[in-house]
Amino acid sequence: MRATATVAMAAMAVTFPGTTAALAGGDFELGRAKSLQCVACHGERGMTPNPMFPHLAGQNAAYLEVQLEHFRTGQRYNAIMTPVAEALTREDIEDLATYFSSVGPLADAP
Ligand code: HEC
Repeated sequence: MRATATVAMAAMAVTFPGTTAALAGGDFELGRAKSLQCVACHGERGMTPNPMFPHLAGQNAAYLEVQLEHFRTGQRYNAIMTPVAEALTREDIEDLATYFSSVGPLADAP
C-alpha cells in the first residue's frame, strides 16, 4: 500500500509539477486583492458574461495553479493571458488559486 501511494504521489509530481506543495498554500484575502487585475476579463469574483474569457470561480485550485504556471513558463500560450501570467510570482499564483477556487455560485465565501 505504502509503495503504491508513493508511486502515485511521484506520478502526480511529474504530471503536475509544483502542485503537491501548493495545495494548501494560498491566502484568500491576498488572492482577493490580487484578483482585481483579473476582473476586466474574467469578471467580478471570476464570473464573466463575456464568452471570450473562461470563468475562474469555483475552479479546482490545483488546476488553476497548473494553468497559470503553464502560461508563465510557456507550456501553454495565449497572446492575451501569457503576459498576465508572466507578471505573477509563485506566491501570487497560490493566492489567486485559493481565492478563485473558493468563490463562485456554489461557494459560501464572501
Ligand atoms: C486582458 C484579459 C485577461 C486578463 C486581465 C486576465 N486573463 Fe486570464 N485569460 C484570458 C484569456 C483570453 C484566457 C483564455 C486563454 C486560452 O484560450 O488559452 C484566459 C485564461 C485563463 C486561465 C485558464 C482557464 C482555464 O479554464 O484553463 C486562468 C487560470 C486565468 N486566465 C487566470 C487569470 C488570472 C488569475 C488573472 C489575473 C491575475 C487573469 N487571468 C487575467 C484573459 C485575461
